[in-house]
Amino acid sequence: MESALTARDRVGVQDFVLLENHTSEAAFIENLRKRFKENLIYTYIGSVLVSVNPYKDLEIYTKNHMERYRGINFYEVSPHIYAVSDNSYRSMRTERKDQCILISGESGAGKTEASKKILQYYAVTCPASDQVETVKDRLLQSNPVLEAFGNAKTLRNDNSSRFGKYMDIQFDFKGAPVGGHILNYLLEKSRVVHQNHGERNFHIFYQLIEGGEEDLLRRLGLERNPQQYQYLVKVGRSRVSLYAGRGNCGVLASTVFCLCVCVSQGNCPKVSSINDRSDWKVVRKALSVIGFSEDEVEELLNIIASVLHLGNIQYGGEDSGNAYITTDTQIKYLARLKSPLNLEQASSARDALSKAVYGRTFTWLVNKINVSLAYKNASVIGLLDIYGFEVFQHNSFEQFCINYCNEKLQQLFIELTLKSEQDEYEAEGITWEPVQYFNNKIICDLVEEKFKGIISILDEECLRPGDASDITFLEKLENTVGGHAHLTTHKLTDGKTRKVMGREEFRLLHYAGEVNYNVNGFLDKNNDLLFRNLKEVMCMSDNKILTQCFDRAELKDSRRPETAATQFKTSLAKLMEILMSKEPSYVRCIKPNDAKQAGRFDEVLIRHQVKYLGLMENLRVRRAGFAYRRHYETFLQRYKSLCPETWPSWQGKLADGVSTLVKHLGYKPEEYKLGRSKIFIRFPKTLFATEDALETRKHSLGERESHVSHAVVVQAWWKGILACRRARRRREAANTIRRFIKGFIYRHNERCPENEYFLDYVRYSFLMKLRRNLPKTVLDKSWPTPPTALIEASERLRKLYMQNMVWGYCKKINPEWKHQLEQKMVASEIFKNKKDNYPQSVPKLFVGTRLNGEEINPKVLQSLGSEKMKYAVPVTKYDRKGYKARPRQLLLTSNSAVIVEEAKLKQRIDYAALKGISVSSLSDGVFVLHVPTEDKKQKGDVVLQSDHIIETLTKVAICADKVNSININQGSITFTMGQGREGIIDFTSGSELLVAKAKNGHLSVTAPRLNSR
Ligand SMILES: Nc1ncnc2c1ncn2[C@@H]1O[C@H](COP(=O)(O)OP(=O)(O)OP(=O)(O)O)[C@@H](O)[C@H]1O
Ligand SMILES: [Mg+2]
Repeated sequence: MESALTARDRVGVQDFVLLENHTSEAAFIENLRKRFKENLIYTYIGSVLVSVNPYKDLEIYTKNHMERYRGINFYEVSPHIYAVSDNSYRSMRTERKDQCILISGESGAGKTEASKKILQYYAVTCPASDQVETVKDRLLQSNPVLEAFGNAKTLRNDNSSRFGKYMDIQFDFKGAPVGGHILNYLLEKSRVVHQNHGERNFHIFYQLIEGGEEDLLRRLGLERNPQQYQYLVKVGRSRVSLYAGRGNCGVLASTVFCLCVCVSQGNCPKVSSINDRSDWKVVRKALSVIGFSEDEVEELLNIIASVLHLGNIQYGGEDSGNAYITTDTQIKYLARLKSPLNLEQASSARDALSKAVYGRTFTWLVNKINVSLAYKNASVIGLLDIYGFEVFQHNSFEQFCINYCNEKLQQLFIELTLKSEQDEYEAEGITWEPVQYFNNKIICDLVEEKFKGIISILDEECLRPGDASDITFLEKLENTVGGHAHLTTHKLTDGKTRKVMGREEFRLLHYAGEVNYNVNGFLDKNNDLLFRNLKEVMCMSDNKILTQCFDRAELKDSRRPETAATQFKTSLAKLMEILMSKEPSYVRCIKPNDAKQAGRFDEVLIRHQVKYLGLMENLRVRRAGFAYRRHYETFLQRYKSLCPETWPSWQGKLADGVSTLVKHLGYKPEEYKLGRSKIFIRFPKTLFATEDALETRKHSLGERESHVSHAVVVQAWWKGILACRRARRRREAANTIRRFIKGFIYRHNERCPENEYFLDYVRYSFLMKLRRNLPKTVLDKSWPTPPTALIEASERLRKLYMQNMVWGYCKKINPEWKHQLEQKMVASEIFKNKKDNYPQSVPKLFVGTRLNGEEINPKVLQSLGSEKMKYAVPVTKYDRKGYKARPRQLLLTSNSAVIVEEAKLKQRIDYAALKGISVSSLSDGVFVLHVPTEDKKQKGDVVLQSDHIIETLTKVAICADKVNSININQGSITFTMGQGREGIIDFTSGSELLVAKAKNGHLSVTAPRLNSR
C-alpha cells in the first residue's frame, strides 16, 4: 500500500502535491528528473498524471501490469497510465457517470501512445463476449488506419498525428466495450502539397507505393518509387501552364488547373524507424477488420493515387501569361481545357483541390469507421488526443487555432478541478478557502467573442470586398482589440518587445506564456476556398467516396462556406460541451529531448513544457487547500501501529480512531482537518514525519514479523471463509428471488417444479399468519383469509380450533357458572329472536333470587312449610276486574308458583296445573299464567308484570318444567277471567311503558321501543 511513498527518498515523490516546495519550478523539474533517471516516467499531480516519454520500451505494459492495476485505488500502487484508465472505468461503472481522459502535450510527447495504452488496457481487462471481440478489434484497428491517413513523419515525431482526435469508447451495462465514436479536428491538409525539409507526407502515400501489390499499382498508374511524385519528394521549380481537363485519371476525372509552381517537398521518403511495407499490411488488414469492402478499399486508394498524379502535373507558361500542361503522363489522363487563370492562381487552385480531396476523404474515412463502431445507449469513456500548446520560431494560423484550443481546455480544467475540489470539501463538511488562480476566460473571449474577437475580425477581413489582406487584418486587430491586456503588435508594443517581434506579427499573452503569430497566410488559410468548377467536376466523379465527399447540394448553396477558424470554433464549443458532461481525468505528456533519444533529460526543453502545459498552475490549484487526503479507514489501517490505542485494532468509530491517532502523533490543529469520511493533511512534511515514524515502527515490529505473518495467513483464510459465506448467501438470495418470480408467474398452473416453491411459500406464510392471528376468545369470529388453495383446509382448521377452544372453555367452567349458563341457554331457547328485550338480558347475570328471607313475610314462609323456595321476585298483579295494579311477590317453590300479598298467600298455582304462560313479543314485562278454568280453587288466569321478565319466566319455565309452554304473542293475549269470561291484553309499541285499561275494556300495554331486537 502506498509503497512508493516509503521509497520516496530514492525516487522523489510520486505525487507532486507532496513536494514541500510546491511553488518552485526547479523542485518540480528536479523531481521529474530523479524519477525519469529511474525509468519512473509517471508522476501524479493529485489525480492528474504527468508522463515523460521514455523513448524506449519499458517493461511496464504487460498483462501482469494490467492485472496489478485492476480494481485498485490509484494511490495504492505506483503511478501509471493503467491506474488512470482503471480509475475512470470504475467511476463510470460505479457512479454511472460518463468519463473522459484528456491527453495533452507537445508533438512527440507521447499522447497517441498513451491513448493506445488506455485502449489496450480496456481491450484486455474488460469483460468480453463474441460480439464484443469484433468491436474490440475494430476499436483497436481504427488506430493504424487513422494513423496511416492522418499521421506523418515530422521533425519532432516520426509518427506525428496531424489531426486532433476525440474518441468515445462505449461500454454496455456489463462493462464490456461495445462501440465507439470518433471526432476529428483540424487535419493539417497543407501537408498533402507541402512538407518541410526532413518531413514526409501522410504515411499512406509511402505505404501504398512501398507495399502495394504490382497489380494494384498498375491499376492506379503508380510506380514503386516515391521519387517520382512531386508531392512526396521532388524539389524544383517548373514552368507550367494552366489547363483544366477531363479524363479518367483513376478518379479525379479531373478538372485541373495547372501553373508554374515552386515545389519544395520533404525529400525524405525513407525513415529508419518506419517500415512502410509492413505497415501497409497492417493497414490493409485493419481496413477489412473495420468492415471496408474490397471495392471501397480500391476506391479509397484510387483517390490517394489521384492526389499523387495531380501533384505531378507540370506546366509551362504562355507568353500571354496563361499556363499549359507539360507532362506527357498527365496529358494522357487529362483532356485539355484552357483556363484564364494566371500561374499563381492556378498553382493554388491545384493544391487547393488536392487538399480538399484529401481532407474530405479523411473525414469520410472517420465517418466510415464510426458506422462500423456504432452502438447506442452506452456508458462512455472519451479519449482526447489533441495537440498541446505549440510555440515555434514562426507561428502561423495553425498554431493560433491549436493554442486557442488549449486555452479552452485549460479553462475547462480550472473549472472542473476547482469545482471537484470544492465539491469534495463540501461533501466532507470542510470550509472552502478560495483559491487565487488566473482565469483565462479573458483570453478565450479575446479570441472567440462575437464581433470583436480575433476570429470575428479575421472572418470579417476574409468576407469583405476590396483589398483585404493579411496586413489589413493586422491593422484591424490593432484598431479593434489593440488595447487588450493580452494582445500586442509590433506597432503597439514598447521598444524592448518590439526588438523580438516582426512587423507582421501579433503577440498573444496566453495563460501559459507569450506567443508571436505571423499574420502571413491567415486570410488564405481561413478562407480555405476551392473553385466552384473544381467542386462541380468532383461531384461528377464515378468514385463513390468522392461523390459522398462532394455533395451536389453544396453547389446549389449560394452562401459562403464557413471559414476554417469559425468551423474550428464551433467544433471546439461542441467538444467542450461533450467534455463538460463527463468526469475528466488528465494525462499531461512531456517530451524529454528533441533528439528522440532514451535517457536524455533536456532541462530547458522540459521547463518550457512544464510552463506551457500549465503544470505549476495545476499544482497550485491542487495544493491550495490540503496536500493529502485519505479515507479514515485507509489512513487508520496504514498508521494504526503508531498509537497504542489504535493498535492492533480500533473498535470504535473510524473518525474517533483517526482523531486519537493524530493527537497521539502530535499533529497541530492547523496541520489537518477531519471531514465526514476523510482526513485532510495540509503539509506534506506532516505526512512524511508520520511515514518516518512508521518506518521506525516497522523495524521494531520486525521481530514479531513471523507471528504477524502467521496471523496474516490465518486472517487471510478467515477473510476468505467470510467472503465465501457472503458470496453463498448472496447466491442463495438471488436464487430465491428468481424462484419466487417464476413461481408467481406460474401460480395459477398445476403444481409443477416452476411454482412449487412459490405455492409452498404461500401456504407457509398463510399458516404463519394464522398462527399470529388466531381468535383469542370463543366469541371472536375473526379468521385470516386463506389463499385459494387452502380454503378447505382453512375451514377445517377453523372448526377444529373452535371446538378445541370451546372444549377448553367448558373445562374451565365452575358449577355456579354452569348453572348460570344452563339458565341462559333455556332463556335463549325460549326468547332468542322472539322477544324484544331478550338481547338486553343476555349480558345481565340471572340472580338466585330477587327477594331474600327478610323481605318475605315470615308467615308466608311458615305457611310454605317444608316446601323449598327456589326464587322470589317482586311483581305487579293486574286485577281481573278493572286491571288495577297491585304490588305482589311471586315465589317459586319446588311444586308451585305462589302469589303473595304481604303476609297473605293470595294464590298458589301448582306447576302441574299451570297450563301455559303467555308474553308479548315486545319489550314489556307483562305475562299471563294460564290456569285451568274448571279448577274451582283457581280464580282464573293471572296477569303479572315483572321488571326482570326474561329471568322470571326462565326460572318459572325451569321450576315448572314448562320450557315449551311459553307462548310469545304478537299484538294481543287472550286470557280467562273465571266464570267463563275472557279478557284481552293489547300490546303496542310506544315511547315508554304504560299499562292501563283501555276504553274497549282491554288491558292496553305500551312497550317502550328498543333500538335492537
Ligand atoms: N510510453 C512510451 N513508451 C515508449 N515509447 C514511447 C512512449 N510514449 C511515446 N513513445 C515514443 O515516442 C514517439 C512519439 O509518441 P506519440 O506519437 O505518442 O507522440 P504524440 O504526443 O502523439 O505526438 P504528436 O502530437 O506529434 O502526434 C512514439 O512513436 C514512441 O516511439
Ligand atoms: Mg499523436
